[in-house]
Amino acid sequence: MTPVMPDLARAAEAIAARGGDLGAPLHLLGEVTSTSDEAKRGARAGAPHGATWVAESQTAGRGRQGRVWISPRGENLLFSVLLRVSCEPTRVPSLALVAGLAVRDAVARACGGAAVGIKWPNDVVFGGRKVAGILVESTMSGSRVDGVVVGIGINVHTRDLPDPIAGIATSVALIGGPPPDRAEILADVLHGLGADAALVAARGLGLVHARLQAADVLRGQRVSGDAGASGVAEGIDLEGQLLVRRDDGTVARISTGEVLHAASA
Ligand code: BTN
Repeated sequence: MTPVMPDLARAAEAIAARGGDLGAPLHLLGEVTSTSDEAKRGARAGAPHGATWVAESQTAGRGRQGRVWISPRGENLLFSVLLRVSCEPTRVPSLALVAGLAVRDAVARACGGAAVGIKWPNDVVFGGRKVAGILVESTMSGSRVDGVVVGIGINVHTRDLPDPIAGIATSVALIGGPPPDRAEILADVLHGLGADAALVAARGLGLVHARLQAADVLRGQRVSGDAGASGVAEGIDLEGQLLVRRDDGTVARISTGEVLHAASA
């Protein structure tokens, strides 16, 4: 059985100290398949807005586009939070972006103000390496979204990154700053996300758009998208799409998938 380490055991206290509407009830777990499986099960059983599942390890942690999420036991943050928002399915990518912003801000603070950014759609990066990832899955009622499970993985203490991610990932500890505190980082993310999520679900990205643009590491970079659009990234629009200026001057709006980040334009 995987125990919950003492630093995480004080997460409820750290969350309560900040106020906000996410992080309660808080389920602190040892080993699970995926915290997002737990959250989806909870959502089906009627869990409320803000319910959060945190685990020390996952046997089937998943990332976007069918990838796996690898995280050594007990070192990092693996959690999923249930947002009970009612919105059109087209709003979900905006919620993923605002989650990225909350994670970016919390990681930057934990690293003493480091230049942490967002690589569209929602990788949180430092120096070209990924420090956190976000997977958003929604539950529907008819044609509307009635619940969004935001699954977040943040590399916190790991210094020896396992093989498949060694060259492309980093962690809060490796970025530097004061000794990282998982409970505080978790509380910080939940507080930031709680402040913006309902607003973005109801009104879109307008109020957070400037912060998003400032965090966007792709802007000005040469990129190519899954759908074949390649050119220079020109920012993120109000629907959360990546704007790419093609070499012929036209602008492509990329709404899903990955972008490969080539050299600076
Ligand atoms: C990505 O970058 O592809 C998204 C990674 C999301 C990983 C987190 S870890 C907690 C939650 N549970 C999962 O199985 N995935 C998310």
